[in-house]
Amino acid sequence: MDFGCGYGHLGTMLMPLMPKGSSYTGIDYSENLINEGRGILNTNEFDVKFVCDDVLTYESGIKYDFVISQTVLRHIDDSHLFLNKMISFTKDGGLVVCAEVNRELENVGLHIHGMDYDFLCQHPGFREMWNTELKRQGERLFCCSENS
Ligand SMILES: C[S@@+](CC[C@H](N)C(=O)[O-])C[C@H]1O[C@@H](n2cnc3c(N)ncnc32)[C@H](O)[C@@H]1O
Repeated sequence: MDFGCGYGHLGTMLMPLMPKGSSYTGIDYSENLINEGRGILNTNEFDVKFVCDDVLTYESGIKYDFVISQTVLRHIDDSHLFLNKMISFTKDGGLVVCAEVNRELENVGLHIHGMDYDFLCQHPGFREMWNTELKRQGERLFCCSENS
């Protein structure tokens, strides 16, 4: 089960690695993302289910071997409630996994077009290296233009 699944990105990554006969249930309260996920993970290979609901209040009575969330916990005000909810959906001996990135580390991959990042780096050697790489590689990774 994928808590706060968005459009099921984790499902597309993990399901091919799961044992035959595995099922995927993604839950998210964004209807748009859930509908997108239904289009993307539309396969007969696995039993796929998307639920549009709030993970903090959703009940189904079903328990899973593996309950995961990726970059959701950080958006939740009551993290204990969220974690207890994940546990409540997990079979005895099952796994609860939360994948979160450190905000600063995440921002390393963010480049906003037109913004001068020089001031972030105080070490002249590194500054030269970042600027050389930027010129050589362009604005890769996650780029935001001023209009987006
Ligand atoms: C940063 S996105 C991560 C999406 C997905 N886990 C991924 O890795 O691509 C956070 C997701 O959590 C969902 N979310 C946040 N709070 C939620 C809640 N209380 N109930 C259901 N979904 C929630 C948002 O709608 C959003 O899709």
